[in-house]
Amino acid sequence: MSWIEKLFVERADIYMEIMNSMWSEGEAIAKGIAEILKRYGLSSGKVLELYSGNGRVAIPLARMGYDVLGVDFSLPFITDAREKAKRYGVEDRVRFAVADARRIDEEIHEKFDAFVIVATSLGYYDGSSDEEVFKRLRNLAKDTSILIIANTVHRETPNWRYCDKVFERFGNLVLLEERKFDPIWSKLYSKWYLYRDEGDGLSLVLRLETEIRVYTPTELAEMLRRSGWGAESVYGDIRKLERFNPPCAHLSLVARAIRTG
Ligand SMILES: C[S@@+](CC[C@H](N)C(=O)[O-])C[C@H]1O[C@@H](n2cnc3c(N)ncnc32)[C@H](O)[C@@H]1O
Repeated sequence: MSWIEKLFVERADIYMEIMNSMWSEGEAIAKGIAEILKRYGLSSGKVLELYSGNGRVAIPLARMGYDVLGVDFSLPFITDAREKAKRYGVEDRVRFAVADARRIDEEIHEKFDAFVIVATSLGYYDGSSDEEVFKRLRNLAKDTSILIIANTVHRETPNWRYCDKVFERFGNLVLLEERKFDPIWSKLYSKWYLYRDEGDGLSLVLRLETEIRVYTPTELAEMLRRSGWGAESVYGDIRKLERFNPPCAHLSLVARAIRTG
């Protein structure tokens, strides 16, 4: 089993705690996304969020008036997202589907005004898989559609590149990450030690080795162009619509469908 299936499917219970601890961040990201969509005249419309997790961005987007489809390959995340949509009273504006991003246009057969990919969801497989995903999204796009990659990591993300050991807290979970960066293939190798804070000590709940390909904005723009998308603007943190000015933690990229014919 790959680390991707282990973390997001087998131990979805643990990763769900991490996503829940970042729920309010998802709302702020959705606001930044909506701000950009409005600049393209989209204050409503159909949005596909790929790699949606348990809906921390899809649900706020639905609350802002978009018709959203969240797609993720993890059934536990999608089940939780559907429950949350009911709790937030937007089950009529947001749908969730279990599907593999790498075959998205074989499983979803609708056109969308916008596509959203949030946080570290690219780079899990390899560059050609990500490019294939962009091509398949283009098959679900109109000639005017927008694609937004929001708050992903990038090659100059400071604590990914330059820190060997990082601690992060997500609610009662504490993550110790040991990282090694391969500059030739732009790959980040991490060892994860995830502990639960029991109040009187830490107990190890998950040990995992991850491997992620990280991109520069130029690499992403080239992959998008080969897939039928023209990159139009770049930001750092989409919550503040800040300039992309490394060393900033996040990369956000906005692309528009390249017209066919
Ligand atoms: C880091 S999480 C981000 C989740 C969400 N975008 C967020 O910001 O909360 C990455 C997500 O990608 C999903 N994922 C990984 N590989 C996938 C694939 N091949 N097809 C669909 N979803 C996938 C995982 O299940 C997980 O929910």
